[in-house]
Amino acid sequence: MDLYGRDLICTQDWSFSELVAALDLAARMKRDRFSARWASILQYKTFIMFFYNPSVRTRLSFEAAATELGGHAQFMTPSAGRFKTQQQAGETIEDAATVMARYAAGIGIRILEDKVPYYGAGDEMLLEYARWADVPLINMADDRFHPCQALADVMGWAEWYGEGPGRPDYEALRGKKFLLAWGSGALARSWCSVQAALLIASRFGMHVAMAHPEGYELDPEVIGWTQANCAAHGTGFDVVHDPDSGYEGAHVVYCRNWVTPAAYQDGVLQKQAEIEKAMAYQGWTTTAERMKRTDNAIFTHPMPVDRGSEVTDAVASGPRSAIYDIAENRLHVQKAVMALTMGNL
Ligand code: CP
Repeated sequence: MDLYGRDLICTQDWSFSELVAALDLAARMKRDRFSARWASILQYKTFIMFFYNPSVRTRLSFEAAATELGGHAQFMTPSAGRFKTQQQAGETIEDAATVMARYAAGIGIRILEDKVPYYGAGDEMLLEYARWADVPLINMADDRFHPCQALADVMGWAEWYGEGPGRPDYEALRGKKFLLAWGSGALARSWCSVQAALLIASRFGMHVAMAHPEGYELDPEVIGWTQANCAAHGTGFDVVHDPDSGYEGAHVVYCRNWVTPAAYQDGVLQKQAEIEKAMAYQGWTTTAERMKRTDNAIFTHPMPVDRGSEVTDAVASGPRSAIYDIAENRLHVQKAVMALTMGNL
């Protein structure tokens, strides 16, 4: 499996066997974390991390990943340079990407919905960077996708349904019900993590169910890919518009707030208006009562968690919560992706 030089913008861009190759290496790296086998894969190499938006897990896990592979992750924000935008003159993506690629073995970018004038503009920017950078471009969360999160998610689910940490069983996920439930709250969150989760769950043969209030539909193209993934596995895709029924028989429950498709007006994300809209839907929360309707489901979330709105403390910190394992898996899957795409394996 030769993934050297490949970008990772969306998991749909990688074949199933390429995803499995990365996940298998991640599991080996997790089981044998500080082995000398991994310690010089990125020796003398730099990974540039370009963050338009803040992060805890992504920044820390990429930095730790580069360190554990013997390399270095360098942090940058737009304020460090003069980059061309719709509002101001500055350096083009062609120039910035070409120069960054002369310094680094790979480039990661995070740009979320509040930093772009319309939905999809962040993903378009990443594709433009990837066009000019002749080193791998890794999506560290844009306004459409969060592929590293998706890999960490599916690894965590497969560990819980497999033999535990570092011993995932992806076959065990086939036919299991994945519920993506919209969550209450005042965070007006991006679509990237939930869309990435739909794509990876359906890709690994899970039955996908969504529960959200009417008016909270996601990207029709992503829904179409999810449906096609489900059809390829002979599994189903259902949508309900109440906060209870989706839990019936679920094996993996994911509850997170997200904005409506009408979130942008006049080239600006209307965050306050989205928060006010969401206030009409109190109680779309994963509770212990709702979890009782499931088939002993695990609870999953990419974090940060909006406790009390998306999920109760009892569930988020309960015995079937996979959230910390999945946060840890960010490190292992990113080590694997960096090793395969940029490293001396
Ligand atoms: N899940 C995730 O990407 O977390 P951060 O925003 O803290 O990086």
